[in-house]
Amino acid sequence: MCRKYQDNLGILRCNTLHLKVNKKTMNYQIAVIKGDGIGPEIVTEAMKVMDAIGNKFGHKFSFTEALMGACAIDETGNPLPDETLEICRKSDAILFGAIGHPKYDNDPSAKVRPEQGLLKLRKELGLYANIRPVAYYPALEAFSPLKTERIEGADFVVVRELTGGIYFGEKGRSADGTVAYDHCTYSIAEIERIAIVGFDLAMKRRKKLTLVDKANVLETSRLWRETVKKIATKYPEVALDFLFVDNAAMQMILAPTQFDVILTENMFGDIISDEGSVIGGSIGLLPSASTGDGVGLYEPIHGSYPQGAGKNIANPMATILSAAMLLESSLNLVEEANVIRKAVSTAIENNVATEDLNKTNPVGTIEIGNYIAEVINNN
Ligand code: IPM
Ligand code: MG
Repeated sequence: MCRKYQDNLGILRCNTLHLKVNKKTMNYQIAVIKGDGIGPEIVTEAMKVMDAIGNKFGHKFSFTEALMGACAIDETGNPLPDETLEICRKSDAILFGAIGHPKYDNDPSAKVRPEQGLLKLRKELGLYANIRPVAYYPALEAFSPLKTERIEGADFVVVRELTGGIYFGEKGRSADGTVAYDHCTYSIAEIERIAIVGFDLAMKRRKKLTLVDKANVLETSRLWRETVKKIATKYPEVALDFLFVDNAAMQMILAPTQFDVILTENMFGDIISDEGSVIGGSIGLLPSASTGDGVGLYEPIHGSYPQGAGKNIANPMATILSAAMLLESSLNLVEEANVIRKAVSTAIENNVATEDLNKTNPVGTIEIGNYIAEVINNN
């Protein structure tokens, strides 16, 4: 059975789930991919926080763990085992940590790589829309590399196309190995569907959309502009502007408050969302949602930080905030999501933070999870 509904990001979704009419007594199936490096630690804290929400609101989250990334290669030889895909397909939403391992990063000749697992998962599940909100927390001003007067009030969302472009084009080497290529292709249909996500989101926000491209050089970017302009005629209230990606990278640092929704293709979105993440003070704070045709995937935008693994030092807040996006976007539990966001803000305001955000008196990954769960319980 498939129940169609529009999620909070405006995407038409099909929920095959275990949805009962009474929202209060629901049991949600959550696929959990902890991944590599700090992944297991940060995801464990997000699960703890979801359980606290479950207790408070009378929901049950049933977690099923699955392998992906370097740990999956070690165990099965495959960065995305079929079983993982199967578990994900059957679930209501996917909570994901991070993947990646230096032994692959430093070996360009490796044929099987952890990242292939994530890319295949995105493609297989049709997760074409990656939503990356950039927030500014006044309590963290001191941690931003930018001056306070520049970042005050910065609040924008990067809408990144996630299943096309150079990431998924034909790639290879010439016969003698001296030439390599990665093709970048986009179809009008691929651009249209992500543009609609961007415009719908802009309508719910400050009604401004900036298309970031490289239309002075790339043919794919010119097709993006043409297509986005056509879609824009259906959204007369949204102010549309265009920026070349090099200029956009600069503008994000010079005047980040000018942005509301940034719409862009896969690779540009990867780069500028990392850039955007430091505006708020730490990459450890930014969550993301990947949605599209089927089950949604929620993950922090940071990587697996292998040097920090097992030390109880990683900031779990981005993953906890990703769990909030999961509740809101895939399960339509808006109030519950806001309770998590508020509890994270309380932790930040009270300086309960890991070493990236508290140099003098940091607490550990586990303690952050405990604190946030407790704030939820006590509210
Ligand atoms: C991200 C990551 C991934 C990407 C990697 C791990 C393949 O950097 O989600 O931003 O490039 O999309
Ligand atoms: Mg990235």
